[in-house]
Amino acid sequence: MEKIVVDNVELALAHPVATTVEWIGQSEPLRQLLACWITVDERDLPLTPRIIGYPGIGKTTLAIAAARARGQDVYIMQCTADTRPEDLLVTPVLSEQGKISYHASPLLTAAVRGAVAILDEGNRMAEKSWASLAGLFDNRRMAESVVAGITVCAHPDFRAAITMNEDSSTFEIPDYIMSRLQPGIKIPFPEREDEMKILSYSLPFSSGEILDMCVDYLQKAHGLDLSFSVRDGINIIRYALKLKESDKGADTKELFNRAVSQILGEDALDIDKLAQTRKKQGGNIPSMNLGDFFFSDDEDLNPDAESDPDKRWG
Ligand SMILES: Nc1ncnc2c1ncn2[C@@H]1O[C@H](COP(=O)(O)OP(=O)(O)OP(=O)(O)O)[C@@H](O)[C@H]1O
Ligand SMILES: [Mg+2]
Repeated sequence: MEKIVVDNVELALAHPVATTVEWIGQSEPLRQLLACWITVDERDLPLTPRIIGYPGIGKTTLAIAAARARGQDVYIMQCTADTRPEDLLVTPVLSEQGKISYHASPLLTAAVRGAVAILDEGNRMAEKSWASLAGLFDNRRMAESVVAGITVCAHPDFRAAITMNEDSSTFEIPDYIMSRLQPGIKIPFPEREDEMKILSYSLPFSSGEILDMCVDYLQKAHGLDLSFSVRDGINIIRYALKLKESDKGADTKELFNRAVSQILGEDALDIDKLAQTRKKQGGNIPSMNLGDFFFSDDEDLNPDAESDPDKRWG
């Protein structure tokens, strides 16, 4: 394990991810992310964007691919509701001899080594944890670990991005943090040609017939704004191929439908009907704030109310 000394404290560093990925098609979000990380002058600073999109649409893959395109190591910090401020920076570990050693998080390691940090699923993390990162993501570019009693200045090559899901199982990130995580880069559903390329690249052993069925299915779902993703497509194809291998004589379309129904649910077999039902239920249900349990949306007293409903859920 690589170690460095900061303010006389020895820090054990985290390991970068080994994955190599290829980003296929969809050049616009990749261009935007790489643009955020450019500095146009020596007085300029990189931006730390939020990569936004439905689960399984390619957010983490995009961030890794962008880091690789810059030739930098990548460190992934998986954020959860239980992530504590010290998990993000330095964690004390008790050794067998009763000595305390200090372990730098993947994020802090990236900052020290001038690598790329991905804060994965950042919107699952509570405000208290975000607060410890304010200085790292503004023009100070430094982080203070209370646990180790050290201050770490980020390397000039340090870059970061936050991935965020568009689902309801999330915390609201406070405005002062959001203002440091700009801009938002949205990953749209892929166009037909790109989706076919992504699926063929991910599953080069699949038959053309099943790939076609899956792309037709996903494109129709995207058109109806159903949140089925590339990852869902990969899972459906994988399962359909396995079913076919175990029952070679079976009808491919039937096996494909079985895979859809077991992976996305029986409702997903009739996507027109499913889209209508979802629409009636109000589409993708947004996250709730505490105020929503006590006040109606338009009530002046509601601290979370926004006059523009689009802005509110945006
Ligand atoms: N443009 C693309 N190029 C290459 N692979 C892609 C692309 N878009 C999606 N994928 C594939 O889609 C799958 C899901 O991607 P990924 O895990 O990055 O999604 P995610 O948005 O981070 O999901 P989650 O919200 O669950 O974290 C991966 O297998 C990835 O390779
Ligand atoms: Mg991800």
